[in-house]
Amino acid sequence: MSMIREVKDESKREILKRISAHSHIRGLGLDDKGEPIQVADGFVGQVEARKSAGIIVKMIRDGRLAGRAVLLIGPPGSGKTALAIAIARELGEDTPFVMLNGAELYSAEVKKTEILMRAIRRAIGIRFREIRRVYEGVVKEIKFALAPHPFNPYTKIPRSAKITLATKDDERMLEVDQSIAIQLMQLNIRKGDLISIDADSGEVFKLGRVKGIEKAKYYDVETYRVLEEMPKGKIFKEKEIVRTITLHDLDEAYAAQRKAAIMSFIGIGSEEKELDPEIRKAVDEQVRKILSEGKVTLVPGVLFIDDVHMLDVESFSFLTRVMESEFSPIIIMATNRGITKVRGTDVESPHGIPLDLLDRLLIIPVRPYTQEEMKEIIMIRADEEGIKLSKDAIEALVKIAGERSLRYSIQLMHPAKVIAERKERDEVRAEDIEEAAKLFIDVMQSIEFAKKWEGKLIKQ
Ligand SMILES: Nc1ncnc2c1ncn2[C@@H]1O[C@H](COP(=O)(O)OP(=O)(O)OP(=O)(O)O)[C@@H](O)[C@H]1O
Ligand SMILES: [Mg+2]
Repeated sequence: MSMIREVKDESKREILKRISAHSHIRGLGLDDKGEPIQVADGFVGQVEARKSAGIIVKMIRDGRLAGRAVLLIGPPGSGKTALAIAIARELGEDTPFVMLNGAELYSAEVKKTEILMRAIRRAIGIRFREIRRVYEGVVKEIKFALAPHPFNPYTKIPRSAKITLATKDDERMLEVDQSIAIQLMQLNIRKGDLISIDADSGEVFKLGRVKGIEKAKYYDVETYRVLEEMPKGKIFKEKEIVRTITLHDLDEAYAAQRKAAIMSFIGIGSEEKELDPEIRKAVDEQVRKILSEGKVTLVPGVLFIDDVHMLDVESFSFLTRVMESEFSPIIIMATNRGITKVRGTDVESPHGIPLDLLDRLLIIPVRPYTQEEMKEIIMIRADEEGIKLSKDAIEALVKIAGERSLRYSIQLMHPAKVIAERKERDEVRAEDIEEAAKLFIDVMQSIEFAKKWEGKLIKQ
């Protein structure tokens, strides 16, 4: 029996895609003793904070941090969000990571505590092993039968497919239905791909590619495992798979089940804005049972709350209670505020966080950068975005980063590139940066601007 990890945590993948400003951050850049390398994994400097973050990652992996919380503090643009994202990347795909901005709590539709609760449940995983029956082999032949799209006559969609799978010892031709054919097309399955089709659910997984069966096209970026030779064994077999799902997935599945039951009973459905607490209670009870039977293991993930000073006193006390409960994720918060009022009160507190919560936090300071470090970050970012900077353009950006902020300086790169392109240059020069800085102002300047024109701007 073979074993393979197949994790489908779409939400985490979504987060890692959404944070395009940090796409150059690939991890914490630590050596095998946990010591930060000055420039590695897209990370520059910030050595102490990275070392602390590395210790946090180790504690999370060993399950020794559940129910605790971490606070990242530092001035704007010092890399707090970048650090949290690096932690997510270090944790690997099957540790849940959920990102929430303090401002997201204030939705007109859903209660603050419900938004928090949902994020918390998405940050806790349940890992289990499952024996599945699969067809697994290397694609030798693939042919689609196409049909016109039901709504759009200009496109065609697969109606079915014939696919031949092979291993060193076995070969099988399968005729598959539309749902599998569509997946094969979406995954862009070609000759030479090693795939696995779940015999019961029909889910298709791409596992790798065999070298040399069909030449890869020049634009292919191979992100899959490359196999040196054909795999052995039967095509149709049983296989052990490790999966991680979150408590939130279970809540939703349970709620959908109950809704279906109610609907068939009274014949109407209702739009639920929040989950009935009874549902979560029932799910917790089931989970506790399978945990104690040893059928599954708990994987406490990470909930990252950025701009945590946006939380109000009610949300903070809710979080404190959650931290004490048995199913609690690791909570990492970040803020750039000093002493400020706790929202919803008249009380001032460090970082706008109530004192009883502050008391239990591990606090990591994130320091401002030196000129040299900012230069390095700017160069990495330009490289990541495919922007060519002249020497004096780099100097101009470093100067702006020092006087204004690193984030602002980085944001100017793209407009400056457009300006350079209009002058038919592919290299960005200092003059383009200066022009961009005139056209797009930073926050401090925009406040001054608003003050100056107060009378003319729209009032609330
Ligand atoms: N040490 C670093 N190495 C590489 N890139 C960095 C580093 N620190 C910050 N960056 C990059 O600089 C930009 C600004 O950093 P980031 O958004 O993480 O700052 P922040 O501390 O979260 O700021 P704020 O308080 O305004 O939210 C991002 O694109 C980030 O990826
Ligand atoms: Mg941030």
